[in-house]
Amino acid sequence: MGRGLAASALALLALTACGNDGRGSAAAQAADGPVERGRYLVAIMDCVGCHNKGAFSPKPENGFLQGSPVGFSLPNLGIFWPPNLTPHPDAGIGRWSEAEIVTALRTGMRPDGRQLAPVMPWKAYRNLSDADAQAIAAYLKTLPASPNRVPAPAQPETATAPYVAVTAPPSLTSN
Ligand code: HEC
Repeated sequence: MGRGLAASALALLALTACGNDGRGSAAAQAADGPVERGRYLVAIMDCVGCHNKGAFSPKPENGFLQGSPVGFSLPNLGIFWPPNLTPHPDAGIGRWSEAEIVTALRTGMRPDGRQLAPVMPWKAYRNLSDADAQAIAAYLKTLPASPNRVPAPAQPETATAPYVAVTAPPSLTSN
């Protein structure tokens, strides 16, 4: 009987808590739909740290997900500039379906069959749940389309824009 009372008191507390912060109501749940979830995931998964136009500049928040002018060089693979993720049909990924975005996020496979370089952390994102991967894709589709273009992947001899590279001194690479 004592236990029953304690359990009811807990249930009451839980109900009161729900009422107090507005959660649990249908309206609050609707406001927390996939697009809001996607916005949250994009913020904490640091897409902006690479894909913003301002990445590596004094104003890294500028040009939200519009593609970075600074690429990453990977030994033996080439140089890769983080692309524009807004729904612009030519400069961005506006022609990709949400399913194609989900596949790229989790497997690194673009719709044209090219495997994204692993500097795009798809190996870390491969365990995203269906719901979370779809929420990110749905959110990207809501961004204002930007015409900003980034260079296609290149080699050092053909690079037309800045990039970051790590050069290891011989002492670290020789046996
Ligand atoms: C460490 C830097 C980095 C982070 C963090 C990052 N990306 Fe990328 N991403 C890249 C680079 C670089 C490429 C291009 C790779 C290539 O062309 O092979 C890329 C490619 C992509 C592509 C393919 C676009 C195209 O046009 O080919 C998508 C989609 C994408 N990223 C989405 C995301 C999302 C969404 C997040 C956050 C959940 C994210 N990325 C986080 C660096 C990053």
